[in-house]
Formats: sequence, structure tokens, C-alpha cells
Amino acid sequence: MQTSISKVPDTAAAIIMIPKKETMSMIGTHEFVHDERNQDVLIYVNGELVPRHEAKISVFDSAFLVGDGFWESFRLHNGKLAFVKEHMARLKANAKALDYDLGMVPEKLVAEVYKTVRANNMTTNDVHIRLMISRGIKRSPSQDPRTSIGGPTIVIIAEYKAPARQAETGIRLFTVHVRRGRPDVQDPKLHTHSKLNCVISCIQATKAGVDEALMLDPQGFVSTCNSTNFFIVRENEVWTSTGQYCLNGITRGNIIKLCKRNNIKVFEKDFSLFEVYSADEAFTTGTFGGANYVSEVDGRMIGDGRMGPVTRRLITLYAALLDEECPPEGVVI
Ligand SMILES: Cc1ncc(COP(=O)(O)O)c(C=O)c1O
Repeated sequence: MQTSISKVPDTAAAIIMIPKKETMSMIGTHEFVHDERNQDVLIYVNGELVPRHEAKISVFDSAFLVGDGFWESFRLHNGKLAFVKEHMARLKANAKALDYDLGMVPEKLVAEVYKTVRANNMTTNDVHIRLMISRGIKRSPSQDPRTSIGGPTIVIIAEYKAPARQAETGIRLFTVHVRRGRPDVQDPKLHTHSKLNCVISCIQATKAGVDEALMLDPQGFVSTCNSTNFFIVRENEVWTSTGQYCLNGITRGNIIKLCKRNNIKVFEKDFSLFEVYSADEAFTTGTFGGANYVSEVDGRMIGDGRMGPVTRRLITLYAALLDEECPPEGVVI
């Protein structure tokens, strides 16, 4: 475990080693390095590029009133949007499922993201972009999509966001009471602004003193985390959930692809906390941080608490995949 250890006075024969809570990592998986340049970024709001402090949307916006919106995030790599095809496929699937009229061909949105990035002269690999689409302004507060008028609200925020977490600092997880929902309640595959189940999970994990929440599916099998996807490694096999109750992360898909390409056995299957606690390794995935190793789940150290060889290999392979997808030559910007 990557934490300092304090000795508790011994009453029995053995000395109990307890990590000092205040020295443990407790930063969310999306914590980033503060960057002053973000104060001056231009934000895209419905086709206009406006200074950050002037960027506003209406109090009658569907996303504010009823969480009726969806989003994608992108990472800039060598001046290009990484895995843009996969992100756009997910965006289109969300637009279809939520019955949105985007008012433009989805491909035009890619051009709008590039427009935002270029207006901000962003070329470095620490740029994170969020593209958000809501059902637009409503005549009056109401959940009914028919009360939305004037087309969708589209906002693009591009910021300098280098992950604050050091690669060798493991993520600590806590299994929360909030479950991933069934698809007939609110399909967990939707990349929607309605994220209260994840937010409540995040609060519970934070109050438990860890970095991120681990969430179970309705049957009690391990599903995913509140803002990242989850994998374990057992005897050199990589396991992740079936994908039926989690956001089908682009990074998750890429890690599965990398396993298959490199003869690492990978399974999307049901497994329980029983198998998590005794896993050799565990890691999370997401666009923001790539793959990050997990050192602890519910107070149980995973493996020896350090990054394991399979996770390390996948992190290296993922970095190479990013370069393959967005080669340094032929920079778009
Ligand atoms: C709930 C949840 N799970 C997983 C992910 C990771 O997905 P991706 O790899 O596409 O960033 C996200 C990211 O938005 C998320 O919100």
C-alpha cells in the first residue's frame, strides 16, 4: 500500500499496522492540476465563442430544469481528438435513444469542437473537452420535450486538465449502496446529464474517505465505478462486467481491444466482490485518466497494493494506441 503506516501499541503478540488516514490519497479520479490558462478560455455556446466568465445558458434550459441533456468528452492528443469515431458513434446513439433533433449532421459537431480548440490555440496533450447538448430552452418549467422551443443548446468547454493523480498512486474504492439501474428504469448506457445516482455514489465514497465509488448491478455483481469503468486481473486474465449496467466507456472498449490484440485473455462477465477482494490487480478506465491502478477496495489491499504487471502493460499499450490513433505527424491544428 502506498501509504504511511503507524504502529498501534501492541496488546497482543502481533503488531497491527494501520495506515494513517490523513496520508492516504483522497482525490477523485478526475482531479486535475490547476491551470491559470483556463481563466481565459473561450467557451462555445450555440455557435458563438465567448469568454469563460460571460458564457451563460438560460434558466429555462432543459438540462437545468430536468437534466434533459447528454454529453461526450474528448482528449486532445497530438492536436487531434482521440477516438473521435467511437465518441461520435456513442453521441449519435444517445441522440437517437433520447429522440433529439440536433439541428445539424452530427459530423458538424466535430468541426465545432475543432473550432473551439483552435480559437483557444490549444495544441498540447493535456486538453480535455466536454461537448454538451440539451433539448434547449423551454416555454416554461416542464419535463415534456414538446415544451422545448428553438432547437438544442450546444456548449463546448475545452480546458487544460492534466490529471493530478500520479501514476504510482493507487485509487481507493468503496462499494456504495447505490446500484446501477436496470435498463428499463434509466438505461445506464445513456451518457446523460441526469447523473444523480453517480453523484450520490461519489458523495458516499468521499464520506467513506476514498477516491471513487464501486457500484454493483441489480443482481449484486460488480458493475462499474461512479465516473470510470472497472477491471480486475486474476491469474493474468482481465475481467470486467458484462457491460449491461455501465456506461460503455470508450476507454473500456479500447482496453478490451488491446487485450484481444495482444493475446491477453479478457472476459466481460459477472463476478462479485468475493473475486475483487482476492484479485491480483484492479484498475479503472476513462477518457480523462486512461487506465489507473486500484490499490484498495473496501479496506482490502488489492495484490500488494502496488501497480501490477498486467495493468502496467495495458497502460503502456494504451499510450501507444493513442499515438497510433493520433500520430504526431500531420497535426491537424
Ligand atoms: C459513469 C461513467 N463510467 C465510465 C466513464 C468512462 O467512459 P469513457 O472511457 O468513455 O470516458 C464515464 C465517463 O464519462 C462515466 O461517466
